[in-house]
Amino acid sequence: MIKFKTKNHSENFWASYAKQVIDFQHALAELIDNSLSARVSNLGNFNPAYIEASFLELDNGSIKLVIADNSQGVSLEHLTGEDNIFNLGFRPEKQGEMNEHGFGLKNAMAMLTSGFQTNFQLYSNPINSTDVFKVEGPICENMQAEKIDLSEWIEDLDVLREAKSGVKISVEVKKEYFSTIHAASSTFETLIKRLGEHVGVMYHEYLNDNKIIFRYKSKDSAKWVTKEVPPIPTPFLVNNSIRKEENIIKIEFAGEEYTAKYIQGTLDKSVNEPSSEGIKGWPYPLRIHYRGSNARCGLTLKVRGRVLKTGVFREVWPDKVGDVSFNNFLGELSVKKDFSTTNNKTDLDPHSEIWKLLREKIAAEFLPEKNTKKHSETSLRKKIIQSIVNTHQLKGKDKPHQKKVWDGGAEIDVYYKDKEDIHLIEVKIDAAKVLDVYQLLMYWDGVTSEINVSPKRGTLVANEFPVYVKKAIAHINRLQDSLGNNYHIVTQEVNDFS
Ligand SMILES: Nc1ncnc2c1ncn2[C@@H]1O[C@H](COP(=O)(O)OP(=O)(O)OP(=O)(O)O)[C@@H](O)[C@H]1O
Ligand SMILES: [Mg+2]
Repeated sequence: MIKFKTKNHSENFWASYAKQVIDFQHALAELIDNSLSARVSNLGNFNPAYIEASFLELDNGSIKLVIADNSQGVSLEHLTGEDNIFNLGFRPEKQGEMNEHGFGLKNAMAMLTSGFQTNFQLYSNPINSTDVFKVEGPICENMQAEKIDLSEWIEDLDVLREAKSGVKISVEVKKEYFSTIHAASSTFETLIKRLGEHVGVMYHEYLNDNKIIFRYKSKDSAKWVTKEVPPIPTPFLVNNSIRKEENIIKIEFAGEEYTAKYIQGTLDKSVNEPSSEGIKGWPYPLRIHYRGSNARCGLTLKVRGRVLKTGVFREVWPDKVGDVSFNNFLGELSVKKDFSTTNNKTDLDPHSEIWKLLREKIAAEFLPEKNTKKHSETSLRKKIIQSIVNTHQLKGKDKPHQKKVWDGGAEIDVYYKDKEDIHLIEVKIDAAKVLDVYQLLMYWDGVTSEINVSPKRGTLVANEFPVYVKKAIAHINRLQDSLGNNYHIVTQEVNDFS
């Protein structure tokens, strides 16, 4: 048994410390930040991190969380020495990428245990050492570490049983705190799914080279489920008519130059649609991030490759908050180590002068484009009209145009007559929806009821045609219009008009 002391302790400190509001995912992120920051380096490169987080729902509703990694571990000196990792403000000699304040671990343990009402164990298997150590919480003035058997180290681990070094933290989390992942989710499985969304968004840049694996078992299930958290990049819509724009922004403060990378564009709304589950897999469709209203869309704020926050809008454009025409605007702002974060890593330091300057520069020079989607659909429609005119040599009133039907109650995107054949086109710049198919049907019926002639064809132009849209089209094409002719709806890709 090795006894050691921590600094900065006072009677009521932890209880009040836990009153700061950070949700479960941010406490977990402090631990993931640490794992990624302590990757083993090999000839100047990092070995990929493997992070395993298991969630076991206990009978009392609490969650037993075990999170482990293949990092370099914490040396006995850093575990039990005068300068140990449990001290607030601890500074390692070599700071990893995301070791900033010397607070994260303590903050996370205080939050995850609801101010040490429950407890935790931290195990370290330091690199180049044959010994494994365990420290039991709570964090207090007098603590102790003990050497343990390898069998205790591998307990609760799956793939990481084989790891040569690392850290494992085991903690019981109360249900109420676990539920802070997403207020609208009520079951254990959906909370895990939403946690997958948070973590996939936060670490998307890291997840290309490193792995975060969730394993979970609910109290009513006999089996563990394993999910690899996928990278969830900022979902910009990019196709022939929509681009994202990338800029390097420079600011100067006190004689120093600071740079930020800024990407702006349009939200790819398909990440919210039910079909994305089939296309992109768990944990899609997204339910928390990138929801396409300016309260939630806006900018993604990334520091050192890690997303702190999504949906930043008010801080940069306070006077545009109520304007719904910015709903689909999406941006990503990446800054480096020279920008400091708040000590709970949920935001950039609001008092930072350089963040203020950067915000002002973006607000002044990079006004988000309004109604990006509408603009693009208009330009796509013009392209389509031009291409039809060229192919069919149409003139005068036969030239493709917009046409009102149902006494002006609906308007067809593109309508034209080629010889005696009437053609209708509905234009969408993103993925087609079932609703768009029925819109064509409404135009079709409008035409038949007005001029007593069935159109030859209705074309739905879109960027992508999910299976359910194709199914709706097949269904409609088996039906007849009021004149007894079959509906004839076809699809065409946006790319065909580039
Ligand atoms: N999983 C881990 N593997 C190896 N070392 C770790 C791990 N977790 C924590 N440490 C060590 O413990 C130290 C203290 O962690 P803590 O999160 O409290 O502070 P920090 O990461 O330095 O700063 P921040 O407040 O920005 O998180 C780290 O600097 C690191 O040296
Ligand atoms: Mg940390």
